[in-house]
Amino acid sequence: MARKIAILGDIHANIDALSVVLRDCQEQGVTEYLCTGDVVGYNACPHECLAWIRELGCPVVKGNHDHYVASEQNLEDFNPAAAAVVEWTRDQLDAEEIAWLRDLPFSVTDKGITIVHSTMDRPENFGYVFDHQQAETNFIQQKTPICFHGHTHCPMIYEKQMNGIYRIDPQDIQLKPGRKYFINVGSVGQPRDGDPRATYVIYDPLARQVQFRRLAYDIETAQARIRAAGLPERLAERLAYGQ
Ligand SMILES: [Fe+2]
Repeated sequence: MARKIAILGDIHANIDALSVVLRDCQEQGVTEYLCTGDVVGYNACPHECLAWIRELGCPVVKGNHDHYVASEQNLEDFNPAAAAVVEWTRDQLDAEEIAWLRDLPFSVTDKGITIVHSTMDRPENFGYVFDHQQAETNFIQQKTPICFHGHTHCPMIYEKQMNGIYRIDPQDIQLKPGRKYFINVGSVGQPRDGDPRATYVIYDPLARQVQFRRLAYDIETAQARIRAAGLPERLAERLAYGQ
């Protein structure tokens, strides 16, 4: 049977973006879901987004915001706006929801596909992958031909060939045999590549095709929710610019 796998992450409590993405998944005939983490943080609907993602019943890996919300960890190293929302989110969720976030795995591998929030190189450290060297360190630890991740909120493809690593701008591609792929699926709820539209990926493992989806959503409503919750104004503004 044909499989169409939606890989989505960095939802960041943005229910307006998530609802548009899940509707698109249905219209596209998605059969399975994978979630690359950061379900909460930055936006104002953590409870609703958690419920919707849990309802999918799919594998979910732990993002750094999920981790901080579910721990007592000191937030000194976090930027102040992000830390403010982590503390606010801790008050919004009940003990069972916090425990669910706390128990998420750092990576999941199933049927030749790996998902991780940041990188397979010490995923619990949540390092960023912005260059070839960081991608190479991931590939050393990546045991499957394809690995999907997020964390930077910037969609990106790294391809490992026999003679080196190549960076490919996000685009619909046909995966080639004998190569490894490390694919950043972008962010549903807070894109940062200059395009404010929600992003996710659809993977067809039989056809070996990866498709990037970009969807406009009701940014003004998401901004209004941030303001109504009393969260930092900068978090509302950045949604409009995709930064
Ligand atoms: Fe994130």
